Amino acid sequence: MNKPIKVGIIGQGRSGWGIHAAFLRTVPELYEIAAVADLIPERVAEAANDLGCKAYPEAESLIADPDIDLVIVATYNPTHAKYAEMALHAGKHVVCEKPFGLTVVDVDAMVAAAKEAGRVLVSFQQRHYEPDFLKVKEICESGVLGDIVRVRICWHGFSRRWDWQTSRAMAGGNLNNNGPHPLDHALSLFGGAMPDEVWAEAGGWLRSGDAEDDLKFILKGKGRPTIEVELTSVCACAQERWLVCGTRGGLHGTTKRLDWKWTDFSKMPARPLDLASTPDRSYNSETLEWKTGSWDAPVAEVNAGAGAAPPAGPTERFYRNLRGVLDGTAAPTVTLEQSWLRAAVMERIRAAADIPVAAGRG
Ligand SMILES: NC(=O)c1ccc[n+]([C@@H]2O[C@H](COP(=O)([O-])OP(=O)(O)OC[C@H]3O[C@@H](n4cnc5c(N)ncnc54)[C@H](O)[C@@H]3O)[C@@H](O)[C@H]2O)c1
Repeated sequence: MNKPIKVGIIGQGRSGWGIHAAFLRTVPELYEIAAVADLIPERVAEAANDLGCKAYPEAESLIADPDIDLVIVATYNPTHAKYAEMALHAGKHVVCEKPFGLTVVDVDAMVAAAKEAGRVLVSFQQRHYEPDFLKVKEICESGVLGDIVRVRICWHGFSRRWDWQTSRAMAGGNLNNNGPHPLDHALSLFGGAMPDEVWAEAGGWLRSGDAEDDLKFILKGKGRPTIEVELTSVCACAQERWLVCGTRGGLHGTTKRLDWKWTDFSKMPARPLDLASTPDRSYNSETLEWKTGSWDAPVAEVNAGAGAAPPAGPTERFYRNLRGVLDGTAAPTVTLEQSWLRAAVMERIRAAADIPVAAGRG
């Protein structure tokens, strides 16, 4: 067995402490948390004490630590690209929280730094490993629903928010905050291509800052499903997460349960076009025979509810895949090409919805 990878985590907030440290401390055979950094002295002292690791008062000194193999960037959104590049230049592998750079320029610079340093760079897109998304993708790709014509993805909620994630200057707002996750799901179901058309609309209603808390976008492309995403904090009557319409059937459901049904037209009478008026003024109608399927999420994978940290399963799958990548035994599940495409489509969503881009490299 190879030695544990020595990790330094920059930022000890909801992500750095609540997601990354919380999981990595459970797999000491794979990763050793060697250092943490935070601008808030109490936070970094508490984390270092609890984890038994080195403590740094800011990002730069952690990045300069020669003992660290892998740096996790879990700071405020505008600083991701800056610290990722700095760590790559210092010869570290990097896990960068989403948004993975604010612009394509950011992503290009990060990817160039990784290539130059010969180090692994990966976007922390752990929700790519969410079981409901993976099941939806599997059903769509199986062909059982026929050609997929449209997909609707709803991240609906109703809540006020007043932290830095609501400020444009901090690159907050629904697109930069949770947006990378449903966009990743959408682009994956879209076939990983650049859409021909991107339509988007954004509004700010319940948040205290000036960034959007209500976002809708639509991706369209020839020969691809039209994908509609609603990511809003002003929907008190939440609809289900998933709706898929295919030419043989459809799927709907939540993160906890999915149901789908399909029919087989090849076993039914042919219906050639008949331009004559129908007999007895009847409407075309026929009885379809449906086959059905369903899926329930494993209990441990179900979110504990609003305000709770995301379930650990996707984070575990992300870090096990990363360990394989670092050992040279696995290919990354979330590739840099996918991360680049996501950043490029985020730019098009911003342009369409009139969302200004924050200052960038912070
Ligand atoms: N993938 C996910 O599911 C997920 C969930 C939550 C947050 N995030 C991402 O994680 C990042 C952090 O968000 P959060 O919710 O943890 O915020 P947070 O405010 O809870 O924590 C951020 C921490 O980073 C520290 N920090 C900022 N700049 C620093 C620097 N230069 N050096 C050292 N420490 C610094 C702050 O002091 C703070 O403690 C954001 O980019 C967010 O989008 C991702």
